[in-house]
Amino acid sequence: MSKVLEEFKVFLDEGTQASMEGGGKTYPHVYTESQSRFYSFKMVYDHLIKKLKSGERVSILELGTSRSFKAGPHEGCGSTDLKYWDPNHHEEWDWSAGIFTITLSKALQETVDIDHSLIEFVTIDWSRDSCYISWVMTRSYEFVKVFHCESEDALRDTFIRPFSWGPSPAWDVIYMDTADFKDEQHMLDNVGPLHLREAQLIVEKNLLTSKGIILIDDVKNSAPSTTSTLPNIAGLGKSFLSIPYLKEQGFKTIYEGYQFVMSR
Ligand SMILES: C[S@@+](CC[C@H](N)C(=O)[O-])C[C@H]1O[C@@H](n2cnc3c(N)ncnc32)[C@H](O)[C@@H]1O
Repeated sequence: MSKVLEEFKVFLDEGTQASMEGGGKTYPHVYTESQSRFYSFKMVYDHLIKKLKSGERVSILELGTSRSFKAGPHEGCGSTDLKYWDPNHHEEWDWSAGIFTITLSKALQETVDIDHSLIEFVTIDWSRDSCYISWVMTRSYEFVKVFHCESEDALRDTFIRPFSWGPSPAWDVIYMDTADFKDEQHMLDNVGPLHLREAQLIVEKNLLTSKGIILIDDVKNSAPSTTSTLPNIAGLGKSFLSIPYLKEQGFKTIYEGYQFVMSR
């Protein structure tokens, strides 16, 4: 078990609860500890560690990178000013966003009995500020590469990148976390179709290894659950089009919490 994940469990639990209960109403989702991002992050970590311990390479692709040094209530939330990055005060980090980028990379870095040169963790975003913030947080971890995307779709952009293992890599883990819920129209016109396009590319271009896993954030986020009048959005958040599509393509949900983990 990762010491980092164990230490961060309390923050991951609180951050997940805040994301499920923000706005005061939890309908249709009710937070329980077993829904915490801790469990889905741990599944990802365990999946990678198993391969690393048998001497295999691992690759992780995160769509939508971490974008704040501090959580909402603290001064400096969303600011790119370096004075707000405090690697030691974990309690002030942006836990309601999950901060997968720093959490997973720190957990892997501090796992001692693996070869870190076998890890490639690519995180990609269209916001230069998010990329800068994420780069600052992870710059001491050699296996993390933060990319700014030039096109409007982060995943499409990965095809023009010079990755070490070729132009069409297959990833062990793909984390789908681009964009946020603003309102129902934005979800219908923008976020839902974006996630669907990402899922279609994963399938059509075979971007996942045969036993690879897809981690999907915010499936049970309170914002769409409490404000959307459409049941599919209320139930599946920003992945209301991508999850049904992935199921049609033979993916199974192997963990259902605040986040979903899917695999073939
Ligand atoms: C919820 S945050 C990602 C959080 C991050 N995965 C973490 O764990 O901390 C969403 C990010 O998606 C980015 N984004 C939104 N739409 C995008 C698009 N079409 N292509 C690339 N990035 C996008 C935003 O700039 C933002 O940084």
